[in-house]
Amino acid sequence: MRLLEAGWERRLDSVAAHMVHFGYGQRFGATRKCVARSWHSSFPRIDKHLTEIHCPNKVKVVNWTLNPDAAAPTPYPAALKRIIGGNAHREALAEIAAWPGYAPTPLRTAAKLASSLGIESVWVKDESGRFGLGSFKALGGAYGIRRVMKGGRDRAASSAGKRGEGHPATPTVTCASDGNHGRSVAWGAHMFGCDAVVYLPAHVTEIRADAIRSYGARVVRVDGEYDDAVARAARDATRNGWTVISDTSYPGYMEIPRHVMVGYTIMISEVLDVLQPTLNVVQPTPDMSLPTHVFIQGGVGGLAAAVIGRLWERLGEHRPVAVIVEPAAANGLLQSALAGKPSASRGDLHTIMAGLSCREISPLAWEIVGKGAHAFMTAPEDGIAPLMRAAAQGDLGEPFEGGESGVAGLLGLIEVARDEERRRAIRLDERSRVLVFNTEGATDPELYARIVD
Ligand SMILES: Cc1ncc(COP(=O)(O)O)c(C=O)c1O
Repeated sequence: MRLLEAGWERRLDSVAAHMVHFGYGQRFGATRKCVARSWHSSFPRIDKHLTEIHCPNKVKVVNWTLNPDAAAPTPYPAALKRIIGGNAHREALAEIAAWPGYAPTPLRTAAKLASSLGIESVWVKDESGRFGLGSFKALGGAYGIRRVMKGGRDRAASSAGKRGEGHPATPTVTCASDGNHGRSVAWGAHMFGCDAVVYLPAHVTEIRADAIRSYGARVVRVDGEYDDAVARAARDATRNGWTVISDTSYPGYMEIPRHVMVGYTIMISEVLDVLQPTLNVVQPTPDMSLPTHVFIQGGVGGLAAAVIGRLWERLGEHRPVAVIVEPAAANGLLQSALAGKPSASRGDLHTIMAGLSCREISPLAWEIVGKGAHAFMTAPEDGIAPLMRAAAQGDLGEPFEGGESGVAGLLGLIEVARDEERRRAIRLDERSRVLVFNTEGATDPELYARIVD
């Protein structure tokens, strides 16, 4: 069976009572008993804000959970189409495909890895070369700016027409970033003729900051986390009359992050164009050579929402099983799955996967991810460097340049494939065809070289 069918729903009902699987190597019987008791009885339930579950005399780290709120295999819900759906994708594709340097990124096969994991195939959508910026984020921030500028120009043109005024002064856009989104905003600002101010938290390397400056943007260092940088960008924008181009949403600020996510959906068209060129003319059926599973690394959740939303819209009930992969230190999406609503990570945010280091998730993205993801997990820090090396050396199949956050989804797949219980839980088997995203290449070349060489 390609996809989760009737059994999935029933299983989710049953896992709701004992849905959390603990660390590897533990006996599931004992684990389930512990959680089931905490779920139903006087033992504390999962503390919704903690990474740990407290059972008598035990504190366990949660690194895997099925999603009890995952939707049954159905067509894409109408309510989600207003976020990712309708004409928005077509408009973004028409716009982005016209930018200088546009070319679909490669869909690589990792045949050696697939065979060693006992699955049919692994496809790696390799974003390391996207627009020469090194990450998929090139699609989002720059597209957000384009939408704002277009709207602004339309408004300016209509008011100038009425009042006979000239062009407004150069607008300024701003954002917070772990590195890649800021680069996209700086590049987009340069392309569309605005000024840019990018706020970077302390952990972002100076090489990544320089890459942002290279497009003429001003970089402001924030002494704190990504989320402090988000708050500072919003505050300074209000004071100065700038426009925030954020990849994360927050109450009262949803429209631009929606455009940013729609920009990311271009990756899905490109994947489907390669796998099923006829998909645009026929309805998908379960036996087409489409992915059965997709592993997506999560920061604020915008990427995951774009991937899940577009695949769901396009493939309906035949959409793949979606697994979200995060660092343990920044696991806001997993926490949200446990709580059933957007929740923050309580980790220390220290992770080699710098692009995924954030505390709060995007509530707009959660609307799709909360229903559309089937499982959430964390990836072990010490698995990243060896996997980057294996990818570069061609040990997985076609070689590719995978950055620290870039290989996180792939690491999630490997972890699941090596664990019988998890494999069974998401029906990963020898007929499975898995899609992952290498979301960044060597975005900090010095660091990359130190890890890979
Ligand atoms: C390389 C890379 N991969 C994945 C992500 C996750 O994207 P999102 O924050 O939309 O979940 C990011 C976010 O910055 C990133 O830089």
